[in-house]
Order: sequence, then structure tokens, then C-alpha cells
Amino acid sequence: MAAYEYETHDYDVVVVGAGGAGLRATLGMAEQGLRTACVTKVFPTRSHTVAAQGGIAASLSNMGPDHWQWHMYDTVKGSDWLGDTDAMEYLAREAPKAVYELEHYGVPFSRTEEGKIYQRPFGGHTTEFGEGPPVQRTCAAADRTGHAILHTLYGQSLKNNAEFYIEYFAIDLIMSDDGACTGVVCWKLDDGTMHVFNAKMVVLATGGYGRAYFSATSAHTCTGDGGGMVARAGLPLQDMEFVQFHPTGIYGSGCLITEGARGEGGYLTNSEGERFMERYAPNYKDLAPRDYVSRSMTMEIREGRGVGDEGDHIHLNLSHLPAEALAERLPGISESAKIFAGVDVTKEPIPVLPTVHYNMGGIPTNYWGEVVNPTAEDPNAIVPGLMAVGEAGCASVHGANRLGSNSLIDLVVFGRAAAIRAGKVVDPESAVPATNTASVDKAFDRFDGLRNATGAIPTADLRLEMQKTMQADAAVFRTAKTMKEGLDKMTAIAGKLDDLQVTDRSLVWNSDLMETLELTNLMPNALATIAGAEARKESRGAHAHEDYTTRDDENWRVHTIARVEGNKTDLSYRPVVVDPLSTEEQGGISLKKIAPKERTF
Ligand code: FUM
Repeated sequence: MAAYEYETHDYDVVVVGAGGAGLRATLGMAEQGLRTACVTKVFPTRSHTVAAQGGIAASLSNMGPDHWQWHMYDTVKGSDWLGDTDAMEYLAREAPKAVYELEHYGVPFSRTEEGKIYQRPFGGHTTEFGEGPPVQRTCAAADRTGHAILHTLYGQSLKNNAEFYIEYFAIDLIMSDDGACTGVVCWKLDDGTMHVFNAKMVVLATGGYGRAYFSATSAHTCTGDGGGMVARAGLPLQDMEFVQFHPTGIYGSGCLITEGARGEGGYLTNSEGERFMERYAPNYKDLAPRDYVSRSMTMEIREGRGVGDEGDHIHLNLSHLPAEALAERLPGISESAKIFAGVDVTKEPIPVLPTVHYNMGGIPTNYWGEVVNPTAEDPNAIVPGLMAVGEAGCASVHGANRLGSNSLIDLVVFGRAAAIRAGKVVDPESAVPATNTASVDKAFDRFDGLRNATGAIPTADLRLEMQKTMQADAAVFRTAKTMKEGLDKMTAIAGKLDDLQVTDRSLVWNSDLMETLELTNLMPNALATIAGAEARKESRGAHAHEDYTTRDDENWRVHTIARVEGNKTDLSYRPVVVDPLSTEEQGGISLKKIAPKERTF
């Protein structure tokens, strides 16, 4: 057994991760007087939310008529009827409140002439239950909305006495013998000390796992650490086969060009200069949802109408927009286009390509953020002491496809919901659970095994194998053959985790070891993704199966539950919640209105 000395910390709540969801949860917990720690592997304002550009969806009606019921309808349709209706209603209903709270906390939103929060159009957000024109629902701070939110929430959390443990890497969850979560084991990166956090509630806000792919808009820190810890604790992941490709990653670098660019009037063209989205989505054109636009772009390229020497990408045109509008509304992407594509957006189109951007799947939760571990008797069984929020979680509001700007609102609505729920279930007067030393020892054994790994494969080589396989075989379009090959390859690749080679044995700033731990987190996420995709015999949202090209609600309107152990994935299924929270009489939305139908734009 590996012997590591550690320092013990006791809290009511420990939040792991300091992005938008983690900070909103931290702030909400601390505001209620719960003793709250936020443990994060990067400095809070460097969390990946800082890269969110276009905005945050809420039906404020600042730029024209809007209703939360329309927002809910768009989210249901956007999810291709895989989202949970109760959670989607909660999201749309609470969104305006959550945004006004952000405003009062101090988020510097862009403003209209009258001083209201500025809102722009985004893909899939419409009026009149999908029958009317696009709506301006996405609240923006220029094209740096995530940056603005993150800085504000960090300041407010400090003001409310939340305690931050910065550059602490979470190794594993501490689980009690009866299946509750009672804390987390961490490694302090800058001095090599070990830390055990005992808590009445652990909130995983660790973000997505975009880095399981070769080309992603996600930061290199997006390594699915929460999903990895959950899988090792014997808990499941949900709907992992649904991976969002953002239509406009910069060709080559993958750097994000916000959908807000199309919201402000930008459009896509092929090698013939044609605005091809008019053919695929005659009503909403370039403002169709992301899965739709990414598939349309891919088809243009496949059919020989891609741009560039190799005909392998598409043009995003902004040069017809007034230079002042670009400078005021889209300064960040104007700069990114210059740096990463050498393009002056006032004069030339930006070369773009669908790029991995978001994971709709994650750790299954209810709409209070409580982690669910479905059993045959109870598909909604809760794991005591554990919550998951933000991209790490799956509530599920995005189902098979997320609408742009529904991510930032998901972060704050469900970060806030987790705090509201913790206020009810966490008793500040009760004792903090004692350290389960067996669980801690297990975490240190795994850590020590990796630290001293003397196998044949360097971490970076195995990571690259995984990334290339996922990129090729779990892509925008998928076939039975590619997914079967992908699953076989990924099973073999995950098996090689036992043969890793780590060369740096130190404990201080050991990036070799940290990247190895991250790889062990990415791997179960990637395996669950390809296994879930291979099994799902239909097309829905981001899962475009070329051998089963239509949606099959009779057999497949179900959530995939994946349990990963080593390189094996066990799949089962769980019902989708179809009932809304409120009835039509209570101002809610009729079930008939949101019943599944063909998804056209
Ligand atoms: O395009 C964007 O600005 C990204 C927004 C989102 O993913 O919600």
C-alpha cells in the first residue's frame, strides 16, 4: 500500500471545479452560510467558461416579444426529444431570474440604447413555438460573455467567504461503504502535498471532455475529470454518444468563432460562393441548430463544394457587416481570426470547419443537480452526498443536441439549483463525515501506481491514439462499420493504460503525472461515447447514423446509461422524463405542443 501523508480539511460543501457552474454553486452555497470550499486545478478565471463567447439564453424580451415557454419549446426540439422535460422547463423558467441575478452581481452585459441587456439571435432560438422568426434571446457581453461571468462570480464568491484551493488536482472521490460520497482526495500541484477533503456534499463541476478528440474548441484542461472519478466509483455516465460539433471552429487550429457571428448577420458559403444553408434549412438558414449546420457543411465538403486547396472546409463571411459593428459586438473573434487564420474579417471570409465543442452527455442528475445511479427498482435513485453541474453533468436539458447559448444558462441555473437544494439537505449543524481511510488508500494506490509507471507507452502517445480514433470513428456522420471499428480500437487503447510510461517521479509541478491522471479520466468518457454510439441504432441530434438515418422514438427515446470498468463498458437504458413540471393551467406548456415531430428548420 502506498503511504502518503495528507492534510485533512472538513467542509459542509466541496465544489470541484471553478468554471461558471462551479462558481455559481460555490457562491450560492457560501451565500447561505454553508462552509464551502472550491477545489480547482486551474486558477478560477482560467477555467474553460472564460472562452465562452456568444452569450447566455434567457427570454428577457428586451429586443422583441419572447416567453419562457417558447424557450422551453426550442430546447425540447433542439434536444431532438431526448432531453428531460422537467429539467428543460426548469431551465427556461428560471433563466431570466438567473440572468438578472448575474446583472445584479455585476456582470458587464452589453446594452441596448435604452440601457437594457443586449440580446442577439442564436441558432434554433425562435418565436411562436418554432413557427415564427428567429428571436433575439442570447444575452451578451460583446463576444466575451463567459469571461465577464467568470470574473464576476469569482469576485462574489470571495466576498461571501468561499474558500479556494487553487491548483489542487482531484484524484478520486471518497466513497463510504454504503455508497455515499463523503469527500475527495487531492494533490496540490505546486508543492506536492496531499489533501483529503471531507464534506457533507461534493459537487462535481469539472467540465466536459472535449480533449478526448484530436480537434476541439475546448481547452486542454477539458479532460472529463468528474466523469473519470465517477466511473472509478462504479457510478454511471449518461448519453455520452451525443457530442456536439460547433459549425465554426477555425480551420486548422479549431479555435472557436462564435455562433454570434451568424447571429449578427454572418453567413456560410461553399466553393461556388453559394449560401448553401438556404437549401438545407429554408426558414432559419444559418441560424438552424448546430447539429443541422455541421451536417450541412460536412455534406457540402463531401460533395466537392468545400473551399481551399484541398476543398476541405467552408467560408464564414462577415465582411459585409459594418466595421463598427464588428468592433463593438465581435471584437474577440475578429482578433482570433487574425491570429489563427491570418484573416482580416472586414475584408475576407474566415476558413471554418465543424469542430468538437460540447458534450451533451455526462454524469446523470435530476434537475437539482443530485447524481442519479439508476437501478432496476428505481431509475431515479440518488447517490447521497454527490452532485454534478455544468458540462460534467447531464440533467438532461440538452438531450441529443444543445442549442447555442443554452450552455452558459445551464451553468448558472443548475449551479444555483444545486445551492438551493444543498440549502435544504445539508445541515450546517451536523458532523462532517469521518475520513473513510480505505477509500483514501485506494486513491493513493492508484496515484502511486501511475507515478511509478514503467510501461512501454508514453502518456502523450496513448492520448494521441485515443484522440485520432475518436476523431475518425465518432465523427459528425457515423456508420455501423466505423463505430464497430472505433469501439474495438478504443477497447484496445484503453487496455494500454496498464502499460503507461511516466518518466517524472517528482510530486512538484509534475505535468507528466498530471497529464497521465487526466488521460485516465478521458479514457472512460471516450469509451462510453463510442460504445453508446455503436449501440444506438437511429439518428437523433448530434448522433447521425448513416445506416439508420431516422429518429426512432419507439425504441430509442431513452437515455443511455454506461458503466465503464477498465476497458469494458456495460450499457443499459433509462426512460426520458416526458412530463413538464407545471400544467398548461399553471402557465406551463401543453404536452401536445411539445410532442415529438419531425425536426425541420
Ligand atoms: O458560439 C458560441 O458563442 C458558443 C456558445 C455556446 O456553445 O453556447
